Amino acid sequence: MKNHSLPRLDENEAIRQKLLSFCRLKPGEIWRDPKREHKIACVDAADSIQVQELMEGELATLAIHDPPYNLVAFETRSVKEFIFWCKKWITTTSAALGDNSSLYVWLGADQNDGFQPLPDFMIMMREFREFSSRSIITMRNQRGYGTQKNWMAVRQECLFYVKGNPIFTVQYTDIPKVLRGYYKEINGKNTENLERSKSENIRPGNVWVDVQQVFYRMDENVNGCYAQKPLKSIERLILASSREGDLVLDFFGHSGSTLIAAERLKRKCFIADNDPVYCEIMIRRLERFRRYGKTGWQNSNPFQQELHGVEETEQPVLLELW
Ligand SMILES: C[S@@+](CC[C@H](N)C(=O)[O-])C[C@H]1O[C@@H](n2cnc3c(N)ncnc32)[C@H](O)[C@@H]1O
Repeated sequence: MKNHSLPRLDENEAIRQKLLSFCRLKPGEIWRDPKREHKIACVDAADSIQVQELMEGELATLAIHDPPYNLVAFETRSVKEFIFWCKKWITTTSAALGDNSSLYVWLGADQNDGFQPLPDFMIMMREFREFSSRSIITMRNQRGYGTQKNWMAVRQECLFYVKGNPIFTVQYTDIPKVLRGYYKEINGKNTENLERSKSENIRPGNVWVDVQQVFYRMDENVNGCYAQKPLKSIERLILASSREGDLVLDFFGHSGSTLIAAERLKRKCFIADNDPVYCEIMIRRLERFRRYGKTGWQNSNPFQQELHGVEETEQPVLLELW
Protein backbone atom coordinates (compact mmCIF):
# COMPACT_ATOMS: atom_id res chain seq x y z
CA MET A 1 0.00 0.00 0.00
CA LYS A 2 1.27 3.45 -0.88
CA ASN A 3 2.18 5.55 2.13
CA HIS A 4 0.18 8.79 2.11
CA SER A 5 1.89 10.69 4.86
CA LEU A 6 1.63 14.40 5.54
CA PRO A 7 4.65 16.62 6.16
CA ARG A 8 4.92 18.47 9.49
CA LEU A 9 2.20 21.09 9.32
CA ASP A 10 4.17 23.71 11.26
CA GLU A 11 6.78 23.66 8.49
CA ASN A 12 4.36 23.56 5.54
CA GLU A 13 2.14 26.59 5.62
CA ALA A 14 0.88 26.01 2.06
CA ILE A 15 -0.56 22.60 2.97
CA ARG A 16 -1.96 23.93 6.25
CA GLN A 17 -3.76 26.67 4.31
CA LYS A 18 -5.19 24.07 1.92
CA LEU A 19 -6.46 21.97 4.83
CA LEU A 20 -8.30 24.94 6.34
CA SER A 21 -11.08 24.52 3.78
CA PHE A 22 -11.83 21.02 5.18
CA CYS A 23 -12.16 22.19 8.78
CA ARG A 24 -15.51 22.11 10.55
CA LEU A 25 -14.52 24.68 13.19
CA LYS A 26 -13.63 28.33 12.78
CA PRO A 27 -11.80 30.25 15.52
CA GLY A 28 -14.13 30.66 18.50
CA GLU A 29 -16.32 27.66 17.62
CA ILE A 30 -16.91 24.50 19.66
CA TRP A 31 -17.65 20.96 18.43
CA ARG A 32 -19.96 19.02 20.72
CA ASP A 33 -19.63 15.28 20.69
CA PRO A 34 -22.93 13.75 19.55
CA LYS A 35 -22.15 10.39 21.30
CA ARG A 36 -20.60 11.27 24.65
CA GLU A 37 -20.07 14.68 26.19
CA HIS A 38 -16.59 15.58 24.95
CA LYS A 39 -16.02 19.04 23.46
CA ILE A 40 -13.37 20.12 20.96
CA ALA A 41 -12.91 23.88 20.93
CA CYS A 42 -11.10 26.14 18.51
CA VAL A 43 -10.24 28.64 21.22
CA ASP A 44 -7.29 30.51 22.61
CA ALA A 45 -6.22 28.96 25.93
CA ALA A 46 -5.29 32.41 27.24
CA ASP A 47 -8.67 33.99 26.50
CA SER A 48 -10.81 33.81 29.63
CA ILE A 49 -14.10 34.55 27.83
CA GLN A 50 -13.54 31.79 25.26
CA VAL A 51 -12.51 29.31 27.95
CA GLN A 52 -15.61 30.20 29.99
CA GLU A 53 -17.72 29.48 26.90
CA LEU A 54 -16.07 26.09 26.63
CA MET A 55 -16.55 25.25 30.31
CA GLU A 56 -20.18 26.46 30.62
CA GLY A 57 -19.80 26.47 34.41
CA GLU A 58 -18.42 22.92 34.68
CA LEU A 59 -15.28 22.27 36.72
CA ALA A 60 -12.62 19.69 35.89
CA THR A 61 -10.69 17.23 38.05
CA LEU A 62 -7.59 17.22 35.92
CA ALA A 63 -5.80 19.37 33.31
CA ILE A 64 -2.95 18.06 31.16
CA HIS A 65 -1.36 20.87 29.17
CA ASP A 66 1.43 20.70 26.62
CA PRO A 67 1.97 24.29 25.46
CA PRO A 68 4.17 25.11 22.48
CA TYR A 69 7.71 25.90 23.58
CA ASN A 70 10.92 26.32 21.58
CA LEU A 71 8.68 26.19 18.53
CA VAL A 72 8.03 28.51 15.62
CA ALA A 73 5.43 30.38 17.67
CA PHE A 74 8.01 31.48 20.22
CA GLU A 75 11.14 31.64 18.13
CA THR A 76 11.01 35.39 18.08
CA ARG A 77 9.50 35.91 21.52
CA SER A 78 11.54 36.30 24.68
CA VAL A 79 11.22 34.05 27.72
CA LYS A 80 9.61 37.01 29.51
CA GLU A 81 6.85 37.20 26.90
CA PHE A 82 6.41 33.42 27.00
CA ILE A 83 5.97 33.47 30.79
CA PHE A 84 3.56 36.42 30.57
CA TRP A 85 1.49 34.36 28.14
CA CYS A 86 1.71 31.27 30.40
CA LYS A 87 0.28 33.30 33.29
CA LYS A 88 -2.81 33.96 31.23
CA TRP A 89 -3.59 30.32 30.46
CA ILE A 90 -2.72 29.20 33.98
CA THR A 91 -5.35 31.76 35.10
CA THR A 92 -7.98 30.34 32.73
CA THR A 93 -7.02 26.81 33.83
CA SER A 94 -7.26 27.63 37.50
CA ALA A 95 -10.79 28.96 36.98
CA ALA A 96 -11.74 25.77 35.11
CA LEU A 97 -10.43 23.35 37.76
CA GLY A 98 -12.40 22.23 40.80
CA ASP A 99 -11.25 22.59 44.43
CA ASN A 100 -9.49 19.22 44.58
CA SER A 101 -7.80 18.85 41.22
CA SER A 102 -4.50 18.16 39.47
CA LEU A 103 -2.56 20.08 36.87
CA TYR A 104 0.21 18.61 34.70
CA VAL A 105 2.26 20.86 32.40
CA TRP A 106 4.74 19.43 29.89
CA LEU A 107 7.54 21.93 29.45
CA GLY A 108 10.91 22.02 27.72
CA ALA A 109 14.24 23.07 29.21
CA ASP A 110 16.65 24.34 26.57
CA GLN A 111 20.11 23.22 27.70
CA ASN A 112 21.72 25.75 25.36
CA ASP A 113 19.73 28.64 26.81
CA GLY A 114 19.80 28.54 30.61
CA PHE A 115 17.35 25.60 30.64
CA GLN A 116 14.53 27.99 29.76
CA PRO A 117 11.60 28.23 29.95
CA LEU A 118 11.40 25.66 32.78
CA PRO A 119 13.00 27.69 35.64
CA ASP A 120 11.09 30.92 34.92
CA PHE A 121 7.86 28.98 34.58
CA MET A 122 8.40 27.33 37.99
CA ILE A 123 9.06 30.69 39.61
CA MET A 124 5.98 32.20 37.94
CA MET A 125 3.83 29.33 39.29
CA ARG A 126 4.63 30.41 42.88
CA GLU A 127 2.35 33.42 42.30
CA PHE A 128 -0.60 31.05 41.98
CA ARG A 129 -1.11 30.31 45.67
CA GLU A 130 -3.95 27.88 44.93
CA PHE A 131 -1.49 25.46 43.29
CA SER A 132 1.14 23.51 45.25
CA SER A 133 3.97 21.72 43.54
CA ARG A 134 3.90 17.91 43.80
CA SER A 135 6.48 16.43 41.44
CA ILE A 136 8.52 16.75 38.26
CA ILE A 137 8.18 13.78 35.98
CA THR A 138 10.99 13.16 33.53
CA MET A 139 10.14 10.98 30.55
CA ARG A 140 12.96 9.43 28.57
CA ASN A 141 12.84 9.80 24.80
CA GLN A 142 14.32 7.08 22.60
CA ARG A 143 15.67 9.59 20.09
CA GLY A 144 18.05 12.29 21.28
CA TYR A 145 20.36 15.00 20.07
CA GLY A 146 23.82 16.40 20.82
CA THR A 147 25.80 13.23 21.50
CA GLN A 148 29.38 14.23 20.60
CA LYS A 149 30.21 17.02 23.05
CA ASN A 150 27.48 16.61 25.61
CA TRP A 151 25.23 14.07 27.29
CA MET A 152 22.64 13.04 24.76
CA ALA A 153 19.47 15.06 25.38
CA VAL A 154 16.69 12.51 25.86
CA ARG A 155 14.42 14.04 28.47
CA GLN A 156 10.97 15.58 28.56
CA GLU A 157 9.72 17.28 31.71
CA CYS A 158 6.22 17.34 33.10
CA LEU A 159 5.41 19.47 36.16
CA PHE A 160 2.74 18.22 38.55
CA TYR A 161 0.74 20.70 40.67
CA VAL A 162 -2.35 20.20 42.81
CA LYS A 163 -5.18 22.34 44.07
CA GLY A 164 -6.53 21.10 47.43
CA ASN A 165 -6.29 17.38 48.00
CA PRO A 166 -7.10 15.52 44.78
CA ILE A 167 -7.30 11.79 44.16
CA PHE A 168 -4.03 9.99 43.39
CA THR A 169 -3.99 6.31 42.41
CA VAL A 170 -0.60 4.62 42.36
CA GLN A 171 0.31 3.26 38.93
CA TYR A 172 2.50 0.34 37.90
CA THR A 173 4.67 -0.29 34.86
CA ASP A 174 4.97 -3.55 32.90
CA ILE A 175 8.46 -4.00 34.33
CA PRO A 176 8.67 -6.93 36.80
CA LYS A 177 10.04 -6.23 40.26
CA VAL A 178 13.42 -7.90 40.70
CA LEU A 179 14.78 -6.18 43.81
CA ARG A 180 15.22 -8.82 46.51
CA GLY A 181 16.86 -8.68 49.89
CA TYR A 182 15.31 -5.39 50.99
CA TYR A 183 14.01 -6.29 54.46
CA LYS A 184 11.71 -4.22 56.63
CA GLU A 185 9.88 -5.02 59.86
CA ILE A 186 6.08 -4.93 59.47
CA ASN A 187 3.92 -5.72 62.56
CA GLY A 188 6.87 -7.37 64.29
CA LYS A 189 7.63 -9.61 61.32
CA ASN A 190 10.75 -9.26 59.19
CA THR A 191 9.43 -9.06 55.61
CA GLU A 192 11.24 -9.22 52.30
CA ASN A 193 10.60 -6.64 49.57
CA LEU A 194 8.60 -8.92 47.26
CA GLU A 195 6.38 -10.12 50.15
CA ARG A 196 5.34 -6.54 50.83
CA SER A 197 4.50 -5.80 47.20
CA LYS A 198 1.05 -4.77 46.10
CA SER A 199 2.13 -5.60 42.56
CA GLU A 200 4.61 -7.88 40.81
CA ASN A 201 5.67 -4.86 38.78
CA ILE A 202 7.55 -1.71 39.66
CA ARG A 203 6.01 1.75 39.87
CA PRO A 204 7.04 4.29 37.26
CA GLY A 205 8.07 6.82 39.92
CA ASN A 206 8.82 10.24 38.49
CA VAL A 207 11.38 9.05 35.93
CA TRP A 208 9.65 7.20 33.13
CA VAL A 209 11.86 4.94 31.04
CA ASP A 210 9.13 2.68 29.74
CA VAL A 211 7.21 4.95 27.35
CA GLN A 212 7.90 4.68 23.61
CA GLN A 213 8.08 8.02 21.82
CA VAL A 214 5.61 8.23 18.95
CA PHE A 215 7.16 7.46 15.57
CA TYR A 216 5.76 6.71 12.14
CA ARG A 217 5.57 2.92 12.56
CA MET A 218 3.19 3.15 15.52
CA ASP A 219 -0.59 2.77 15.22
CA GLU A 220 -1.17 5.98 17.15
CA ASN A 221 1.02 8.09 14.85
CA VAL A 222 -0.84 11.07 13.39
CA ASN A 223 0.93 12.20 10.23
CA GLY A 224 1.22 15.99 10.01
CA CYS A 225 1.45 16.43 13.78
CA TYR A 226 4.89 17.24 15.12
CA ALA A 227 4.50 17.19 18.89
CA GLN A 228 2.42 14.16 19.70
CA LYS A 229 2.62 12.78 23.24
CA PRO A 230 2.41 8.97 23.57
CA LEU A 231 -1.03 7.72 24.66
CA LYS A 232 0.67 5.60 27.31
CA SER A 233 2.04 8.70 29.05
CA ILE A 234 -1.30 10.54 29.03
CA GLU A 235 -3.22 7.45 30.11
CA ARG A 236 -0.89 7.03 33.08
CA LEU A 237 -1.60 10.61 34.22
CA ILE A 238 -5.35 10.19 33.73
CA LEU A 239 -5.44 6.90 35.64
CA ALA A 240 -3.44 8.37 38.52
CA SER A 241 -5.32 11.67 38.84
CA SER A 242 -8.97 11.10 37.92
CA ARG A 243 -11.86 8.66 38.18
CA GLU A 244 -14.19 7.31 35.51
CA GLY A 245 -16.69 9.97 34.44
CA ASP A 246 -14.46 12.87 35.58
CA LEU A 247 -13.80 15.85 33.35
CA VAL A 248 -10.27 16.14 31.91
CA LEU A 249 -8.98 19.31 30.21
CA ASP A 250 -6.28 19.89 27.62
CA PHE A 251 -6.02 23.42 26.21
CA PHE A 252 -3.25 22.58 23.67
CA GLY A 253 -4.81 19.57 21.99
CA HIS A 254 -2.86 19.28 18.69
CA SER A 255 -3.20 15.58 17.69
CA GLY A 256 -5.80 14.93 20.42
CA SER A 257 -3.87 12.34 22.47
CA THR A 258 -5.60 13.47 25.67
CA LEU A 259 -9.00 13.11 24.00
CA ILE A 260 -8.33 9.55 22.79
CA ALA A 261 -6.86 8.60 26.16
CA ALA A 262 -9.92 10.03 27.95
CA GLU A 263 -12.29 8.22 25.57
CA ARG A 264 -10.51 4.90 26.17
CA LEU A 265 -10.53 5.41 29.95
CA LYS A 266 -14.17 6.57 30.14
CA ARG A 267 -13.44 10.16 31.15
CA LYS A 268 -15.07 13.22 29.62
CA CYS A 269 -12.68 15.54 27.84
CA PHE A 270 -12.82 19.24 26.90
CA ILE A 271 -9.92 19.85 24.55
CA ALA A 272 -8.86 23.02 22.74
CA ASP A 273 -6.45 24.21 20.09
CA ASN A 274 -6.41 27.68 18.55
CA ASP A 275 -5.70 26.22 15.10
CA PRO A 276 -8.77 24.91 13.17
CA VAL A 277 -6.58 22.32 11.40
CA TYR A 278 -5.62 20.57 14.65
CA CYS A 279 -9.23 20.79 15.84
CA GLU A 280 -10.32 19.00 12.66
CA ILE A 281 -7.58 16.39 13.14
CA MET A 282 -8.85 15.79 16.69
CA ILE A 283 -12.47 15.37 15.54
CA ARG A 284 -11.39 12.96 12.79
CA ARG A 285 -9.12 11.01 15.15
CA LEU A 286 -11.99 10.47 17.60
CA GLU A 287 -14.42 9.51 14.82
CA ARG A 288 -11.89 7.10 13.32
CA PHE A 289 -11.14 5.55 16.69
CA ARG A 290 -14.84 4.91 17.28
CA ARG A 291 -15.43 3.50 13.82
CA TYR A 292 -12.28 1.43 13.25
CA GLY A 293 -10.69 1.10 16.71
CA LYS A 294 -7.55 2.79 15.33
CA THR A 295 -5.77 5.37 17.47
CA GLY A 296 -4.02 7.10 14.56
CA TRP A 297 -3.00 6.90 10.89
CA GLN A 298 0.08 4.74 10.58
CA ASN A 299 0.24 4.62 6.76
CA SER A 300 -2.13 7.39 5.85
CA ASN A 301 -3.26 10.73 7.21
CA PRO A 302 -6.39 12.48 8.47
CA PHE A 303 -7.00 14.12 5.08
CA GLN A 304 -6.13 11.22 2.77
CA GLN A 305 -9.45 11.36 0.97
CA GLU A 306 -9.33 15.08 0.18
CA LEU A 307 -5.59 15.19 -0.58
CA HIS A 308 -5.03 11.85 -2.32
CA GLY A 309 -8.52 10.61 -3.21
CA VAL A 310 -7.89 7.49 -1.11
CA GLU A 311 -10.84 5.79 0.61
CA GLU A 312 -10.53 4.32 4.08
CA THR A 313 -9.46 0.67 3.86
CA GLU A 314 -9.94 -0.31 7.51
CA GLN A 315 -12.80 -2.59 8.54
CA PRO A 316 -15.29 -1.06 11.01
CA VAL A 317 -15.23 -2.60 14.49
CA LEU A 318 -17.72 -2.65 17.34
CA LEU A 319 -16.23 -0.89 20.33
CA GLU A 320 -17.66 -1.25 23.81
CA LEU A 321 -19.86 1.77 24.53
CA TRP A 322 -19.87 3.59 27.83
C1 LIG B 1 3.04 20.96 21.76
S1 LIG B 1 1.50 20.91 20.90
C2 LIG B 1 0.54 19.83 21.93
C3 LIG B 1 0.73 18.36 21.61
C4 LIG B 1 -0.29 17.45 22.23
N1 LIG B 1 -0.03 17.22 23.63
C5 LIG B 1 -0.35 16.09 21.51
O1 LIG B 1 -0.08 15.06 22.15
O2 LIG B 1 -0.66 16.04 20.34
C6 LIG B 1 0.87 22.52 21.19
C7 LIG B 1 -0.43 22.87 20.48
O3 LIG B 1 -0.91 24.10 21.06
C8 LIG B 1 -1.59 24.86 20.07
N2 LIG B 1 -1.64 26.26 20.54
C9 LIG B 1 -0.69 27.21 20.44
N3 LIG B 1 -1.10 28.37 21.02
C10 LIG B 1 -2.34 28.13 21.51
C11 LIG B 1 -3.30 28.91 22.23
N4 LIG B 1 -3.04 30.18 22.54
N5 LIG B 1 -4.47 28.35 22.58
C12 LIG B 1 -4.74 27.05 22.24
N6 LIG B 1 -3.88 26.26 21.57
C13 LIG B 1 -2.69 26.79 21.22
C14 LIG B 1 -0.77 24.62 18.81
O4 LIG B 1 -1.57 24.84 17.64
C15 LIG B 1 -0.33 23.16 18.98
O5 LIG B 1 -1.17 22.31 18.25
